[in-house]
Amino acid sequence: MNALITGGCGFVGSNLAAYLLDANAANRVTVFDNLSRHGACANLSWLRTLSTSGCNPVEFIHGDIRNAFDVEGVVKALRPDVIFHLAGQVAMTTSIESPRRDFEINVLGSINVLETVRLHTPKTAVVYASSNKVYGNLDHLDLVETETRYQPRASQNGVDESVAIEFHTPYGCSKGAADQYMLDYARGFGLNTVVFRHSTIYGGRQFATYDQGWVGWFCRQAIESKANPSRPPFTVSGDGKQVRDLLHVSDAVRCYVAAYEHIADARGAAFNIGGGIENSMSLLELLRYLEQRLDLKLSYTRLPWRQSDQKFFVADNAKAGRLLEWRPATSKEEGIESVLNWEKLAATLS
Ligand SMILES: NC(=O)c1ccc[n+]([C@@H]2O[C@H](COP(=O)([O-])OP(=O)(O)OC[C@H]3O[C@@H](n4cnc5c(N)ncnc54)[C@H](O)[C@@H]3O)[C@@H](O)[C@H]2O)c1
Repeated sequence: MNALITGGCGFVGSNLAAYLLDANAANRVTVFDNLSRHGACANLSWLRTLSTSGCNPVEFIHGDIRNAFDVEGVVKALRPDVIFHLAGQVAMTTSIESPRRDFEINVLGSINVLETVRLHTPKTAVVYASSNKVYGNLDHLDLVETETRYQPRASQNGVDESVAIEFHTPYGCSKGAADQYMLDYARGFGLNTVVFRHSTIYGGRQFATYDQGWVGWFCRQAIESKANPSRPPFTVSGDGKQVRDLLHVSDAVRCYVAAYEHIADARGAAFNIGGGIENSMSLLELLRYLEQRLDLKLSYTRLPWRQSDQKFFVADNAKAGRLLEWRPATSKEEGIESVLNWEKLAATLS
């Protein structure tokens, strides 16, 4: 496999690159990134160290996904078998601060990828990381409120792909627009595109921020609270009972590879991909888990709900199970442990 990963120095991209290099699943792995994300340079340095343990060296191209010449140049030179398109503006909050920037990175950037492939390498598979935000705030779900979470009144496996799309927030619009372009380029131009709709991916190499990466962010707050019990309280938006399913990055990476391996069945399709109902957690449940795990009492204050925050999103992975032969394997407990370890290491890197 000759793989190009846009956003390959980010959280998911660097884990995917490392997996492909380590498993010898690809004979060539190129990461394309403008290094704008905090931590991207550290991830690139880490990827470069892998060749000392016998892996093929990673190739790095500094480029901007918004620039059609940058994208065309790398795709024409590499003629990749697959592009994992992960470069993006990734936070809902910052999309509200700058909708134009969000649009340019997520929509124009994705069109640059699709047009380049259409014109120059039409057999190249393109796997795109979309978002649960394409489903709006899912107000139609019949939820009950318990002491710690919202959950559907009737037991169910989660939200499947038949739910109507409804784009909320600039981030939802830009991810949703790119998601639909991906599907349309399969329908109309015969490209081999696949769309994954994720909510929470978590794990090592994520430089979580207040705006994105809530599991890593709250694990860091807990570690810092343990080290310094008198630190100021952190904040929780909404009532903390909103539920997401936690997809460990190692499972996400296997899913991206599975999309390429099953491209004949997967092309032109969108998949909801998450950790599944058994790996779901509310914010409050994560905080309580961390209190027990680290033996501490967390101190936090409440902020208003974030715009269009879904009270419940859990991916129904059945379609991915059927067509990609994929299912998540990492339990939330194992995954949180890996984040606690990563956050301690990350503190020494920044
Ligand atoms: N992590 C999650 O929980 C999650 C959930 C849903 C969807 N996604 C999507 O998955 C993809 C990867 O997410 P992530 O968590 O690894 O994010 P990330 O921010 O860690 O990685 C994105 C990478 O893209 C790069 N980038 C940003 N703008 C760029 C530009 N203009 N040109 C070139 N590179 C640019 C950044 O430097 C960064 O390295 C994103 O598209 C994101 O929207 C992630």
